[in-house]
Amino acid sequence: MCGIVGFLGKRQVKEHLLQGLRKLEYRGYESAGLVVMTANGDFSVAKAATGVESLRDLCLKVDALEMPGMIGIAHTRWPTHGGATENNCHPHSSCDGSIWLVHNGVVENFQELRKMLVDKGHKIISETDTELVAHLIEEEMKGVNLETAVRAALPKIVGSFALAIICRAEPDKIIIARRTSPLLIGHIGANEFIIASDSVAILPYTKEIYELHDDELGIITSAGCEYKTFNGDELFKKMIDVDTELGEVDKLGFPHMMLKEIFEQPDVIATVCRGRLLADAGKVKLGGLEKNQDVAARLREIDRVIVVACGTAYYAGLLGSYLFNRIGIQAEAHLASEFLYSQVVYDPRRTMVLAVSQSGETADTIRALEEAKMRGALAVGIVNRVGSRMTRMDDCGIYTRAGFEIGVASTKAFTSQLSVLAMMMLYFGRERGKMALGEGQLLIAELLKMPDKMKKVLAKVAEIEKIAQRFSQAKNFLYLGRGYSYPVALEGALKLKEVSYVHAEGYASGEMKHGPIAMLDENFPVVAIAPRDSIFDKTKSNIMEVAARRAPLVVVTTEDCDDFDQMTEFVIKVPTVEMGCLSPLLTVVALQLFAYYMAVARGLNPDKPRNLAKSVTVE
Ligand code: AGP
Repeated sequence: MCGIVGFLGKRQVKEHLLQGLRKLEYRGYESAGLVVMTANGDFSVAKAATGVESLRDLCLKVDALEMPGMIGIAHTRWPTHGGATENNCHPHSSCDGSIWLVHNGVVENFQELRKMLVDKGHKIISETDTELVAHLIEEEMKGVNLETAVRAALPKIVGSFALAIICRAEPDKIIIARRTSPLLIGHIGANEFIIASDSVAILPYTKEIYELHDDELGIITSAGCEYKTFNGDELFKKMIDVDTELGEVDKLGFPHMMLKEIFEQPDVIATVCRGRLLADAGKVKLGGLEKNQDVAARLREIDRVIVVACGTAYYAGLLGSYLFNRIGIQAEAHLASEFLYSQVVYDPRRTMVLAVSQSGETADTIRALEEAKMRGALAVGIVNRVGSRMTRMDDCGIYTRAGFEIGVASTKAFTSQLSVLAMMMLYFGRERGKMALGEGQLLIAELLKMPDKMKKVLAKVAEIEKIAQRFSQAKNFLYLGRGYSYPVALEGALKLKEVSYVHAEGYASGEMKHGPIAMLDENFPVVAIAPRDSIFDKTKSNIMEVAARRAPLVVVTTEDCDDFDQMTEFVIKVPTVEMGCLSPLLTVVALQLFAYYMAVARGLNPDKPRNLAKSVTVE
């Protein structure tokens, strides 16, 4: 998603703006730009639209320019309207260049606004929706101050926005506004402020962070920061809690953040479980679910779970739905963007809508959760980012404690989500008498062993890299899995697509013979996830059908299985687990590594996959 940074203070700002944009690189972008304003209201602007190298090229341009000024705004753009060109790159300005702004979000009524503004004589020079906002404010600013003009203009916008606005007539001010897209303000000290889309850009300067909520303004000057509603009513804001472990955003010697985060997973699983497993009682303590008596009472009444999520989080949620069904609670997973427009029938009084999200800012998932809350369902979040939007709108929730996930391709978030979902299964299973003490203790023992077992999979990194190199020129893959391995097949295929741009399709292995098998030949490799579990024989016969079509075969199975050793040379063996529902925690690690090394073998940067954003805050 787009990244916004702004700075107002007592120092030259251009370097601080670039530093902020570097912290937001993980959000993905295809162009970058900034504008700096002097005390006299003079502007200097720099832009670069060179794809994933835009920020590097912007830095080179800025280094060569003076760009004096102690107020500025900056932006990395993830295009929604108009290609990644310098003309479309933010910041954008009004006709007379007196107003400049940057924007994260989508103006849904941009055609209507564009027509109105052109009819009034405005010269629109870009394809973007954002530029229209600058002209709209210019149109409203006739004879009034910037704040009044902004408050008059914003209600005319249908859609989402986080905006930072500066103007020549008031050269000591930044006005910010928010609807849906996140925007935070850091108070650095007397009269210095930094704004950003994410706290990771603010924390190097201050931990005193505030957040704009929907339809709120911030008026920032060297005298301080006022918060108001769009109607002009004053607001009082409290500081928010944010993740402050900044150390996690360095690569620590790994070539890429993605690989670092894959290797972090044993520690992450240990952290996710720490303090939550009650081994003797065979139970878990999930404080986030014990928020208050009302929530506890509601949880006892739940007889239906609807998971809503996107992307990798959806695949974790899909597996989670299997776990809830395993203990007798009816559960299903829906893509958040589909759930919103579907006619899912449920009794909100007895239904928990479970939102799974790493960022806690994904617009589709937020909208789905809002919908469920509006209908009266119990809204529960499984979220990684402390203080994110979802954690402030749910009725209760559980943090996944995976630490900052900077890699655009989710890895440790997925395994931490699975671990939390396994603990939720244990929580409800034991509470409702669906899991006996022994089974509860077995699950806990397996979770406690998981970090060491994951390390054994990570130790196969060289073997997996070789397999990736062997298949690096393949054009298509079919990923097959059954039962608990089906969501793993979906996730493995997504990982490959995201970072290597190779087409891959996750499929239920039992379904392959109902169509996709027609594609298979010696040029169409298949990755099959086949741990030795209760449905192994069925999966093995699907794999034999693949081999009979001479399709190259990569099999991820367990150490106790040598059934495929004569069938293919590409067999990755992971440690066995006594509870099959936990095998995805190990098989997925092999697929994460495979996807990572496929990208590297294809000369790509897995940390900067084209077209992707880390947190998709538009619907
Ligand atoms: C996963 O690798 C992708 N980056 C993407 O599918 C992601 O999982 C999805 O956008 C959901 O994000 P969230 O977990 O922050 O809600």
